[in-house]
Amino acid sequence: QITPVILSGGAGTRLWPLSRELMPKQLLKLTGERTLLQETALRVAEPSVVVCNHEHRFIVAEQLREVGLEPKAVVIEPVGRNTAPAAAVAALMLAETDPGALMLLMPSDHLIADSEAFRRAVAVATPLAQDGRMVTFGIQPTGPNTGYGYIKAGAALGGGFTVERFVEKPDLSTAETYVASGAYTWNSGIFLLPVGLFLAELDQHAPGMVASCRAALAKGRSDLFFFRLDDETFAGLKGQSIDYAVMEHSDKVAVVPVDMGWSDIGSWSALWQESTRDEFGNAVKGDVLAIDTRNCYLRSQDHLVAAVGLRDLVVIATDDAVLVADKSRDQEVKAVVEALKRDG
Ligand code: GDD
Ligand code: MG
Repeated sequence: QITPVILSGGAGTRLWPLSRELMPKQLLKLTGERTLLQETALRVAEPSVVVCNHEHRFIVAEQLREVGLEPKAVVIEPVGRNTAPAAAVAALMLAETDPGALMLLMPSDHLIADSEAFRRAVAVATPLAQDGRMVTFGIQPTGPNTGYGYIKAGAALGGGFTVERFVEKPDLSTAETYVASGAYTWNSGIFLLPVGLFLAELDQHAPGMVASCRAALAKGRSDLFFFRLDDETFAGLKGQSIDYAVMEHSDKVAVVPVDMGWSDIGSWSALWQESTRDEFGNAVKGDVLAIDTRNCYLRSQDHLVAAVGLRDLVVIATDDAVLVADKSRDQEVKAVVEALKRDG
């Protein structure tokens, strides 16, 4: 029995001004008719447990209902403490009814073009997880991206491999060596985890976290399918990602390589890449008039945007902000958000 657990806590700051604290990227319709959260939930058959921030609880529940998927539970975090505590809380909940349960932990901020390939990979991973492995899904790297985890496969194991090394977010020169070696895949951020094993490994490598999560659950309260973790206990946790907390240290990790049209659409240029483009290479959304404009991402929420003679730019107009950026420098949009926060 596999229970999907969806993590919906990120902010997606590089997609400002569309992505906001109250409306982060996973809750937006970025490429199609559905939000990334809805796409994630629809990718799996079973009802999901969603772990999200207090501010997003109603939007999350509403978006799932909209696509006919009542969540199994919505776990509410008073504050974000990164992915390890969120995963631990879900694992503890599932372990209560079934210590042998498997959880399919999924980020909510990705595109996966080939859902069939994804489901096949999960089927390959299942016996490995049942055999006592925390299974990662490896993506063929296309460049030395430093925002990802890198996985070095070891010996063949069932339909996958043991993991020789897991390195989270290496620096650029290390990432370059990894990609050049051909021996590494990117960590997709999706994990198939035996809950008991995951909790034991987490407890070993991040002492105290599981106990605090257990306390946050015990002191929490439920209201329909919402479950609110205890504010003070959860806020007292140290924020840590599952990758740094467990995956880098455990020797019980396996990897199943998968080619599923995976994209972490973390920036405007990545979104441009993944969008349908016209004959001039422009991806256009909303009320936009483009003249002699090429290879741009142009998006307007409710104004008419007219572009003349643009090349390789991102132009995003919302009701209260406009972003104009060089497409090759879209990682720096993060700095805009930081500056706005700092200066109020
Ligand atoms: N509930 C909850 N609470 N969810 C969270 C929190 C939190 O505090 N923080 C992050 N998330 C969610 C995000 O919304 C996203 O869906 C997922 O967890 C992953 O978090 P990111 O912050 O986006 O992680 P990352 O992109 O830096 O790195 C991870 O993903 C990469 C692939 O995209 C790692 O697993 C990398 O190893 C991996 O390569
Ligand atoms: Mg991410």
